[in-house]
Amino acid sequence: MKHLIDPTDLTKEEIDQIVALAEDIIAHRERYQGSMAHKKLATLFYEPSTRTRLSFTAAMMELGGNVLGFSNPQNSSVSKGETVQDTVRVVGCFADIIAMRHPIEGAPLVASEVSRVPIINAGDGSHSHPTQTLTDLLTIKRELGHIDGITIGFCGDLRFGRTVHSLIKALSRYKDIKVVLIAPDELRLPDYIKQDVCDKMGVAYRETDSLDDAIPELDVLYMTRVQKERFLDEDEFDRVKDSFVLDARRMALAKEKMAVLHPLPRVNEILTEVDDDPRAAYFRQVENGKLVRMALIISLMEWKNDPAHGMPEHDAPILNPALHCTNPKCICNNEKHESRFRLAENGITRCWYCDSKVR
Ligand code: NCD
Repeated sequence: MKHLIDPTDLTKEEIDQIVALAEDIIAHRERYQGSMAHKKLATLFYEPSTRTRLSFTAAMMELGGNVLGFSNPQNSSVSKGETVQDTVRVVGCFADIIAMRHPIEGAPLVASEVSRVPIINAGDGSHSHPTQTLTDLLTIKRELGHIDGITIGFCGDLRFGRTVHSLIKALSRYKDIKVVLIAPDELRLPDYIKQDVCDKMGVAYRETDSLDDAIPELDVLYMTRVQKERFLDEDEFDRVKDSFVLDARRMALAKEKMAVLHPLPRVNEILTEVDDDPRAAYFRQVENGKLVRMALIISLMEWKNDPAHGMPEHDAPILNPALHCTNPKCICNNEKHESRFRLAENGITRCWYCDSKVR
């Protein structure tokens, strides 16, 4: 069964196929209108969302399908203590495909292990957000005409920003990508992305705390919101919340063709004076999110039982009772799941569910 839990669950060819299908949907919208007739998408949102949930809903509706689900787990059996796995076993009896957002990292992964229908991770904690990645790739393709060869700057909260982690993973499969990481010390990109993705895949990156210095060389500037809800320490959030602001003065330093992306919602990191700049692509990006989710739903439903589109093979997990994941937001510390680990780059052992370093 093909699920989308992490961007690396898709091969580069599958990503390109989904992006190409989205472009075909743009060109021939009418051809796809009834393609999901009598099919149902369940949206299980355990965490707030406007864009992602509504864009999944709109995507399924445009394909002629139906949508059910919840956006507030307090109104579901979750509030009675039901596990994620039991919930998807039940929902799989009603729906043909499930999109799940969860504040706990690894929740969509454990869901996929028991589900009889495809699971799409619509964001798990600070960990992954692969459908935003597809949105971002389609946006880069439409704005610049190509993905290979770009220099992309990620600015703001690179530590908790799951959209950043997922997009870097996907871009590492493209040619000649250069990454500039623009963040204060407290919000730097986690080591596992630097080591297991950039170093391993040969992605050139550099770190800076100056947006002014970085902006002139960028083809894409990916702005992010400081993720208030992920901080365990409120003082730390207050210290970094206004770290980087994109304004007209800074836009004047950028290339004429640079594209500004932001997964939204923005708080104050892009001033509204930038919105009318033709390089501001973030509202076009929202529309692309719906189109690419239409393409993803069609693809996963087609690939569901096709052995040519299975899940990637991984080494067997390490089961060592002496090791413990210390991430309080990992599924293994919130529900009863076997502790599992994997050996990553540089001899580091990481949690199977959330990628935290355990040794
Ligand atoms: C992002 C998310 O939820 O991670 N938003 C989104 O999906 N459009 C980014 C954010 O919340 O800042």
